[in-house]
Amino acid sequence: MTTGVQVYRRLVNYSIQYWHLLLLAVVGLVLSALTQPLFAWIMGPLLDQAILKRDPEVIRWLPVGILAIFLVRGAAMFTASYFMGWVGRKVVQQIRGEVFNHLLRLPVAYFQRKTTGDLLAHLTYYTDQLAMAATRGITVLIQESATVIGLLALMFYRSWQLTLGVLIILPLIALIILYVTRRLRRLSYKVQSSMGEVTQMGSELIKGYKVVRIFGGGAYEAQRFAMTNQRNMTLEMKRLLTELLSTPLVQFMVALALAAIIYIATREATLATLSPGIFMSFIMALILLLTPIRNLTQLNAQLQKAIAAGESIFALLDETPERDSGTRTLPQCQGAVTFHQVGFQYANSTAAALKNISFQVEPGQRIALVGKSGSGKSTLVNLLVRFHDYQHGEIQLDGVPLPELSLQALRQQIAYVGQDVVLFNDTVRNNIAYGVLGERSEAQVRAAAAAAHALSFIEQLPQGMDTVTGDNGALLSGGQRQRIAIARAILADAPLLILDEATSALDSEAEHYIQAALEHLQQGRTTFVIAHRLSTVESADMILVMDSGEIVEYGTHHELIKLNGHYAKLHRLQFAA
Ligand SMILES: Nc1ncnc2c1ncn2[C@@H]1O[C@H](COP(=O)(O)OP(=O)(O)OP(=O)(O)O)[C@@H](O)[C@H]1O
Ligand SMILES: [Mg+2]
Repeated sequence: MTTGVQVYRRLVNYSIQYWHLLLLAVVGLVLSALTQPLFAWIMGPLLDQAILKRDPEVIRWLPVGILAIFLVRGAAMFTASYFMGWVGRKVVQQIRGEVFNHLLRLPVAYFQRKTTGDLLAHLTYYTDQLAMAATRGITVLIQESATVIGLLALMFYRSWQLTLGVLIILPLIALIILYVTRRLRRLSYKVQSSMGEVTQMGSELIKGYKVVRIFGGGAYEAQRFAMTNQRNMTLEMKRLLTELLSTPLVQFMVALALAAIIYIATREATLATLSPGIFMSFIMALILLLTPIRNLTQLNAQLQKAIAAGESIFALLDETPERDSGTRTLPQCQGAVTFHQVGFQYANSTAAALKNISFQVEPGQRIALVGKSGSGKSTLVNLLVRFHDYQHGEIQLDGVPLPELSLQALRQQIAYVGQDVVLFNDTVRNNIAYGVLGERSEAQVRAAAAAAHALSFIEQLPQGMDTVTGDNGALLSGGQRQRIAIARAILADAPLLILDEATSALDSEAEHYIQAALEHLQQGRTTFVIAHRLSTVESADMILVMDSGEIVEYGTHHELIKLNGHYAKLHRLQFAA
């Protein structure tokens, strides 16, 4: 219950800036709500004055009055729904934008913890559920509560004794609603997370369609999806059942009261004190109560969905973004890197991924990292970009500890080609000149593409630089994708260049050319190269050999060969082939 209040308070905080529109909507809602008791009230004069006493004045004004009531009701409803709807969509637009922007600032570890499907569901399904609360929910809530209050007031005015009789059922109704609310909230959570599962399985199938086909995973995936799909259906039906059962149950309570009232009211003693008009008006009000009560109980289901969705969304928005407390910048970065006894462990892992890493790199040097798969090479360079924060020791760039630099100042100094290439569904040109590189000239983009040995194949594409590469470069070969990523890094022209197996998908000839281009580029630029093919790292100024998160050897190629240790062994193995 309290979480519901919190979620609503936050929603209200979003919508309060449009208070003038909301006020208009609320006035409209209350106005249209009041037409109901007015209608019930009119039954009094209709029966007593118009029909029994045949008062000509009342007979003349009653039809006009009824028309006026419905006219006001229509206009008020329209105004209220329109402005409420506008504010609701506006709030959703704002929240959706905030979710997107927050995703831009969340740390790498968050993405590794969450599934794509669940995060996507936050942007789509959850926000839409929230929209329901912000618009239809509040509309019904205000309008129908006002109606109920108005009708009850009229009933009190007509006969407070009878009304008290009706109110006896209130605790019963409250009990039902309380139970139903809890159940609906619980089910809404489950429906929601099963929606996340549906999205997740969908996105996995779409991303992994090739693996699914080749390894004959179709039947397995279909069965797995059918189960999730079925679970979703079962949960939705449970929720619907709760929702559907609660309404007639509550309505039956009201009908019970109605029957009791009619029974009491038609006894001789009561009839003597009530005129037929007053009695009719009372009964009318009671009957009119049925619809708002039904709407209010149905509304509960929607509110619970919305609260469950809102809670997930706000939890995402409350996740701490990447720590960015540093304020220093490096306007003239030289590219000197120092690791001093650096240790790091992934949050969900039991062993340290890096232990006691110390080394020093002079500006413009070329450092190679070699070692077994899983020895910590990618982890080491990821610390340098601050995808993760190290727990022990210190890393310095130009003598400044990394946390003292603002993230932007740090990452500006670094161009990075990772182990998995990421291309956006955009033109080749925009993929090369991505992000802050947008202001580079066409000639610079072409030069970078040429240096990455990519220009020749780009020119053969149907629209050249303007060809759209498809989802993650689906229309390109693996090596072509890698060359575009290298061109992007070359264009970035940053003092630090990190290549994590950036040439693994290239043929020897392309690799040779890129190697040459990079060596040319490397002047005045510190480069970290991770490569499994040792031939590409022989010319490095320093080779760090890693094993189980530690540096076990370092030196130049010749020194390491002479040492006749790990590196020499790796080298013999590769060249024996
Ligand atoms: N996000 C993560 N969470 C937990 N453990 C991780 C994570 N990423 C990597 N590891 C673990 O950290 C260790 C080092 O991984 P890393 O990716 O740095 O290896 P690598 O040397 O780059 O290997 P490769 O040559 O295969 O790319 C591995 O044991 C791996 O299982
Ligand atoms: Mg790696």
